[in-house]
Amino acid sequence: MSGLIEKALLTEEQIQTRVKELAEEIERDFNGEDVLLVGILKGAVVFVSDLMRNMKINVSIDFMAVSSYGNSTTSSGVVKLIKDLDTDIKNKNVIIVEDIIDSGLTLNYLQKNLRDRSPKALKICTLLDKPERRKCDIPVDYCGFEIPDKFIVGYGIDYAEKYRQLPYIGIVETK
Ligand code: IMP
Ligand code: MG
Repeated sequence: MSGLIEKALLTEEQIQTRVKELAEEIERDFNGEDVLLVGILKGAVVFVSDLMRNMKINVSIDFMAVSSYGNSTTSSGVVKLIKDLDTDIKNKNVIIVEDIIDSGLTLNYLQKNLRDRSPKALKICTLLDKPERRKCDIPVDYCGFEIPDKFIVGYGIDYAEKYRQLPYIGIVETK
């Protein structure tokens, strides 16, 4: 199944250690207050589930889905809301949980969309960040790893819907 994977970029152990640290950072920042983790489908599903299991404060979860790369490896730049939240976020501590920030267009849209709903706090947490590819300025509050401009898969992240189940992050051979 891993025939297209060139090499591992982050091991399962590296990811798990960092996720634990991020959970602790969030807990500290919110000082015992409840938080709502908003996972961005589908890529952030694995990250959200590990993140919440490392948190001892009260956590609730909700999900949004937006249009993404489809089966290609480059962004169209068009963001469309496919699934909205089930819950009202007014006066809540909201953390958007993303798998990876590339151009930043997805988060730019999501951040504006959620800010209009008057949450108490709105933070951004991403497992991975490709800063070289950024097209708009995004204030990232919690970042797992900065990575080079390579197409990666695993830990929830796909290539044509495959490889999400890998417990590590691998670089895909795109040549
Ligand atoms: P952005 O809007 O360009 O920041 O794109 C963010 C989204 O693009 C992520 O949530 C992923 O779904 C997808 N994406 C970006 N880079 C990669 C990659 O290397 N592998 C798989 N998906 C990616
Ligand atoms: Mg995504």
